Amino acid sequence: MRIVIPGGTGQVGQILARHFHANNHAVTVLSRSPHPAPWRVVTWDGLTPGPWVAELEDTDVCINLAGRSVNCRYHPANRRAIFDSRVQSTNILNEAIASLNHPPTVWLNASTATIYRHSLDRPMDEATGELGGNEPGAPDTWNFSIQVAKAWEEAFFSTPTPRTRKVALRSAMTFSPDPGGVFDVFLSLVRHGLGGTNGPGNQFVSWIHEIDFIRSIELLIATEDFAGVVNLASPHPLPNRDFLRAIREAWGTRIGLPTTSWMIEIGTFLMRTESELILKSRQVVPGRLLAAGFQFTFPHWQEAARDLVSRWKARKFTV
Ligand SMILES: NC(=O)c1ccc[n+]([C@@H]2O[C@H](COP(=O)([O-])OP(=O)(O)OC[C@H]3O[C@@H](n4cnc5c(N)ncnc54)[C@H](OP(=O)(O)O)[C@@H]3O)[C@@H](O)[C@H]2O)c1
Repeated sequence: MRIVIPGGTGQVGQILARHFHANNHAVTVLSRSPHPAPWRVVTWDGLTPGPWVAELEDTDVCINLAGRSVNCRYHPANRRAIFDSRVQSTNILNEAIASLNHPPTVWLNASTATIYRHSLDRPMDEATGELGGNEPGAPDTWNFSIQVAKAWEEAFFSTPTPRTRKVALRSAMTFSPDPGGVFDVFLSLVRHGLGGTNGPGNQFVSWIHEIDFIRSIELLIATEDFAGVVNLASPHPLPNRDFLRAIREAWGTRIGLPTTSWMIEIGTFLMRTESELILKSRQVVPGRLLAAGFQFTFPHWQEAARDLVSRWKARKFTV
């Protein structure tokens, strides 16, 4: 297949580009500042048409992952950048794809599992899940993320592309052993004795192992019935206290200092990020993937954590 990945230089893009390249697909990443890679990398700005549009001609798949990282403080300038980078890059891709003679067969656009409300009470699938944004007492940062997600999906679906099937990826946190990835961050807390329960500990963590992320992307590409929104998450989200306990057990330590909600607020402030990732309860489940018969390689976090720790160690101690 010919696969174009706008924003494919980040954590998720590297997972996909690496996989598809290794399986002999022709991968092209669109980047604002291209660096050499084993696959083709072409310049774009995510804002305006340019020579990059021709890269999408006669392709099979576009997977758009572009967007300013959400790992930052949500002050006004960052909020603008988080919002605009997602909506504008999606808009310009809509314009580009409409202009092609032979557009991609399928376009997968990043979205996020954060679009669902804070949920301690029940799982959220695509059919019965409730979008957030109006929960009484929810922090302003949580509402902001939901506004971004809604505007992002609205930009994606607002322009019909009759020759290109569209799927919005409501992804949970994607876990791989890569340096700097989200698992690396959690494992670093555990390694330093800080991997105890965060805040109340009953808030749910939604997650997906990179192998299941890749396999579900392949299913979405191959299956013509898939259009609209799809949750990419393991079927078993779990409370934060159990999530961290499993990483501690996989690492082989019993000790993990708990952190209270106010400590997390201070810590994330000092780390120039937001506490939403840790304190919001995400109970997102993959209703459509399961209905399609998708079998998860890692349905349960305990096995996923063991696999990630062993691959993290293998990677760390062989380089
Ligand atoms: N990682 C997860 O677990 C997860 C979970 C749910 C949703 N998502 C969403 O999935 C997407 C990919 O995630 P990721 O973790 O791979 O993100 P990431 O590591 O931050 O990478 C996103 C890429 O977007 C590009 N970018 C940054 N600022 C931009 C801007 N202002 N305009 C256009 N492009 C810009 C960058 O590429 P260049 O600098 O090369 O242009 C960057 O490598 C993101 O939109 C994220 O919100 C991720």
